[in-house]
Amino acid sequence: MEPVKVGLLGLGTVGQGTVNVLRQNAEEITRRAGRSILVTHAAIRNLPKAEALDLKNLDLTIEPTDIVDDPSISVVVELMGGLEPARTLVLRAIDNGKHIVTANKALIALHGNEIFAAAQEKGVMVAFEAAVAGGIPIIKAIREGLSANRIEWLAGIINGTGNFILSEMRDKGRSFEDVLEEAQALGYAEADPTFDIEGVDAAHKLTILASIAFGVPLQFDKVFTEGISAIAQEDVIYASELGYIIKHLGIAKRFDGSGIELRVHPVLIPQKRLLANVDGVMNSVMVQADAVGPTLYYGAGAGSAATASAVVADVIDVVRTLTSDPLNRVPHLAFQPGALADVPVLPIEDIWSEYYLRMEAEGRPGVMADVTRILGDQGISIEAIIQKEPESEGASVSVILLSRRVREGVMNQAIERIEALSSVTSRVTRIRVETLA
Ligand code: NDP
Ligand code: HSE
Repeated sequence: MEPVKVGLLGLGTVGQGTVNVLRQNAEEITRRAGRSILVTHAAIRNLPKAEALDLKNLDLTIEPTDIVDDPSISVVVELMGGLEPARTLVLRAIDNGKHIVTANKALIALHGNEIFAAAQEKGVMVAFEAAVAGGIPIIKAIREGLSANRIEWLAGIINGTGNFILSEMRDKGRSFEDVLEEAQALGYAEADPTFDIEGVDAAHKLTILASIAFGVPLQFDKVFTEGISAIAQEDVIYASELGYIIKHLGIAKRFDGSGIELRVHPVLIPQKRLLANVDGVMNSVMVQADAVGPTLYYGAGAGSAATASAVVADVIDVVRTLTSDPLNRVPHLAFQPGALADVPVLPIEDIWSEYYLRMEAEGRPGVMADVTRILGDQGISIEAIIQKEPESEGASVSVILLSRRVREGVMNQAIERIEALSSVTSRVTRIRVETLA
């Protein structure tokens, strides 16, 4: 059989990993796919930089349309990132009858509905395993492995850069900026690293996971999103004193039959829980499903070879199904296109959680009483409270407390009242406590 020709849009961290894995494991891949797979073309912006890689038998171009319009190419692998020109190029490749593999979660989360509809019409596949949790085959696990189940919730560490930063800050006392720089050098971070540290990247991934888990359309704009940039070294220390570890989680959960929660934010996790012990660039997702119960997935969440593993697996899937009936392939979002449910996404004020609160306050008697009175007025019970000694006479003190479960809207009111106290000299840092996984 003729080899299948693949064109890459992008030859950076993931693009180079993809070429390497396809070439290094060519023999095994051919045995799995039933045909050999050749990467023949790659589009880049900076030609001298790509030429310096000295990759053999690879035509380089600075014009991506050379690839999406090339009739000899059957599969276009989009690894350039960003929304444009990626969206336009992917739609043009689909229009030309090409199958798409992409690692671009931003593109799928924001334009997936449009891209899948175009692909459906043309009878081509759009595969995006690498878009969520790097090398972990979580899309396949949920979409195919768990397809017998009603999924109740999933919770996961789904940004490698953020987890790497939090782990290094905690274990080695390194500064946020220093670790971020290393994550960028290692190729983990997004082109715009604020996507990693402000939770946007995790929100893109959660959008995709929620659609596949619950059979709802992609709705990135409904995800409550908070990053790790506000986490201070002292929060990491106080959390540890209380028996918790701070992680950044994406959570998608059915709530009381009234809707679904979609949220990404830092959480305190009890130290003994599995997710609390997922460190560095590793990702992990726990899925609670009705028939199988809990299942846990773990692996490298970013990086060249690990992500390429997922990209190449998608290419193999595409090649295997080149001759199959397009109408009977696994649907892009797990559920049949006409069967997506119109379940409301709940506002963040309606979630229930326990909370870690930290504030700076004047170092005088009565402050703690003021704070606990406000919480009492709002009907919020306190699990633990710590007041640190002032470092010097008249210096402010840190007050840290853990609340019991309460509705977020009620906690918001309490925080507003605490911040209005003249004795409280800082904003209140709030981190939700998560005991699901
Ligand atoms: P890089 O920045 O390392 O590489 C991007 C590549 O795309 C470069 O070769 C760049 O060329 C090329 N490119 C960008 N814009 C254009 C354009 N307009 N025309 C032609 N070429 C272009 O990114 P990554 O490899 O890290 O990421 C690629 C995608 O994979 C992103 O969507 C990212 O979110 C996703 N991803 C990344 C992971 C990781 O660990 N890095 C893990 C999982 C997903 P040039 O260098 O010449 O500018
Ligand atoms: N920047 C992303 C991360 C890449 O750090 O998780 C993998 O999606």
